[in-house]
Amino acid sequence: MKRSFASDNNAPVHADIMQAIINANNDDYVSYGDDPFTQKAKELFNHKFGAEVEVFFVCTGTGANVSALSHLIKPWQTIMAASTAHIHNDECGAPEKFTGSKLHTVPSLDGKLKISQLQPFLHSVGFEHHAQPGIISITQATELGMVYTCEEIEEIARFAKSNDMYLHLDGARIANALVSADKTLEEMITQTGVDVMSFGATKNGLLMGEAVVFLNPELARGFQYVRKQSMQLISKMRYVSAQFVAHFQDDLWLQTASHANKMARLLAEKIRHIPRVKLTMPVQTNAVFAAIPKEIIKPLQEKYYFYVWNPEIGEVRWMTHFNTTEEDINDFVKCVEELLD
Ligand SMILES: Cc1ncc(COP(=O)(O)O)c(C=O)c1O
Repeated sequence: MKRSFASDNNAPVHADIMQAIINANNDDYVSYGDDPFTQKAKELFNHKFGAEVEVFFVCTGTGANVSALSHLIKPWQTIMAASTAHIHNDECGAPEKFTGSKLHTVPSLDGKLKISQLQPFLHSVGFEHHAQPGIISITQATELGMVYTCEEIEEIARFAKSNDMYLHLDGARIANALVSADKTLEEMITQTGVDVMSFGATKNGLLMGEAVVFLNPELARGFQYVRKQSMQLISKMRYVSAQFVAHFQDDLWLQTASHANKMARLLAEKIRHIPRVKLTMPVQTNAVFAAIPKEIIKPLQEKYYFYVWNPEIGEVRWMTHFNTTEEDINDFVKCVEELLD
């Protein structure tokens, strides 16, 4: 059996989540979200955010990002993001296609946006020949596995608000970020001033299911139509909602994310001592980036799934997930050592 360090998407479905799907399969229920599972899941979201939020379940992370952005942007506005952003690199141009808006990126090595990089966009404000700044989109944890502090998010939110922009947060790995920073959703999202977030869970044990969460319910007005037009309205929604109920039950989502992060730290700890292997990023969540001798990449990929991040320097990305074991890590590290022997 070939184990995966390629992506947390390669993980199986957590047993409790699978059981929740089976439990939801016992009877007829009204479709499109008018069911008790969806009601319960929405209540849990309010509880976790410590506020009245508007939650809309969707199928994919791309669907969450694109529908949320389409709802809040005008075609003559721009969405600003880091050059590493998933919305820029990995959504096949869907944000531009569906919003009809320009996506502006600024260079980033760790995936974080900095205010100093956003400031120059303000020069365009009021100049009718330039697209107008509309949304700042950040990713938490970033595509490089780094975690914004609450203060950093708050600073970006303040900048967005004072310049008439919205702050969108792509939280495909929000649980990994929360446990890494030892913060609650309320502290990291509600209290920092995020306007809308894509709440990811598929990478953290679900079979399939993400959510768009509006922190200000006023902003959600009309979003149900955008979701439908974005082809993200799920008829048998109870199966997605039931997964979220199980996700939050006894803080399963934090346990799974915490385990994934722990496995990444263990991998980094063991791998950093191997000569000719160099960690290229600090390890804050469940991603380990390392530069390894190019000649061992292919033989290692014959035994394990993982992606080459930057072929020029032999940089690879290894990701752990809730189902990664210590034994997996030990075997993997041994394999790297043997290949370098
Ligand atoms: C940062 C980020 N955002 C969003 C997504 C969601 O992607 P998908 O549409 O494949 O669910 C991913 C998945 O890789 C991601 O890494």
